[in-house]
Amino acid sequence: MNNTIIKKRALIPGQTSMLIIDAPQIARKARPGNFIILRVSQNGERIPLTIADTDPQAGTITIVYLVVGKSSALLETLNEGDSILDLCGPLGKATHIEKCGTVVCVGGGTGIAAMHHIAKGHHMAGNHVVAIVGARSKDMLLFCDELSGFCPELIIATDDGSSGRKGFVTDVLRERLEKDQNVAEVVAVGPVPMMEAVAGVTKPFGVRTVVSLNSIMVDGVGMCGACRCNIEGETRFACVDGPEFDGHKVDFNELRMRLAQYRNQEKQSMDLFRREHG
Ligand SMILES: Cc1cc2nc3c(=O)[nH]c(=O)nc-3n(C[C@H](O)[C@H](O)[C@H](O)COP(=O)(O)OP(=O)(O)OC[C@H]3O[C@@H](n4cnc5c(N)ncnc54)[C@H](O)[C@@H]3O)c2cc1C
Ligand code: FES
Repeated sequence: MNNTIIKKRALIPGQTSMLIIDAPQIARKARPGNFIILRVSQNGERIPLTIADTDPQAGTITIVYLVVGKSSALLETLNEGDSILDLCGPLGKATHIEKCGTVVCVGGGTGIAAMHHIAKGHHMAGNHVVAIVGARSKDMLLFCDELSGFCPELIIATDDGSSGRKGFVTDVLRERLEKDQNVAEVVAVGPVPMMEAVAGVTKPFGVRTVVSLNSIMVDGVGMCGACRCNIEGETRFACVDGPEFDGHKVDFNELRMRLAQYRNQEKQSMDLFRREHG
């Protein structure tokens, strides 16, 4: 049945979960880079989440979320067989994908799942996909099995060295760009500081760099202005003009500021949720 959770898997217990949801129409239309907006309760917030994968035959989509506040904690209370109140999508512009040679896809934290769909799209287009994934430690890595299924190269970097290379994804990327002049494009999805750092690394090499902005969104269709961001001095709406933009043109300082603007309310809301749910 539409919006039913077919499968739930804890990827990092208590922190990050994956849901496979029955959503045949979205599964048929969704392309890499698209996202959905869902709502768990009648008076609840609208939560934008990237579509990490689709199975058009089975009519399902996959989402992966980090429990950070009240709405994601509420989503986490749902189980297999439960239905999501409403689910809207696919939203946003799909990733621009064409056959261009070597594409390096960089993913950090929960962004690895979102990057997975884009990497798959580049692979399907015939590109040589190098996946670079980073996390604080081994048990926080996501989607490595899935990525190694189609990426000829998967390079892991962990902050503590518990898996792969000790260090940041940007160290691995810089080395790659120094020894390989054939990288046509870099895609980065993850925390804002990571995407900013990736854009900083690629700039001197002149390599096209795409980042996926997680601006605060409300309607997701370009009407409310909540997701506005500054792209080379021009105002753009991440929900309809993005969420992917040229990383060399994004004003990351403004993005960071806008993401933090409701921090007090978010904390109060989470404290209240914890009190009510034990
Ligand atoms: C296009 C897009 C794709 C995203 N994909 C994913 C994904 O695949 N997995 C994932 O874990 N997260 C994703 N996010 C972020 C996710 O939407 C937020 O983590 C979530 O809305 C937090 O809500 P909350 O009530 O749990 O947390 P809150 O306590 O309300 O907020 C915690 C932080 O989440 C962000 N946030 C809060 N409300 C929103 C909102 N309405 N829109 C966007 N960000 C918000 C802010 O940075 C805030 O500081 C995506 C965001 C966007 C815009
Ligand atoms: S979320 Fe409202 S304009 Fe983008």
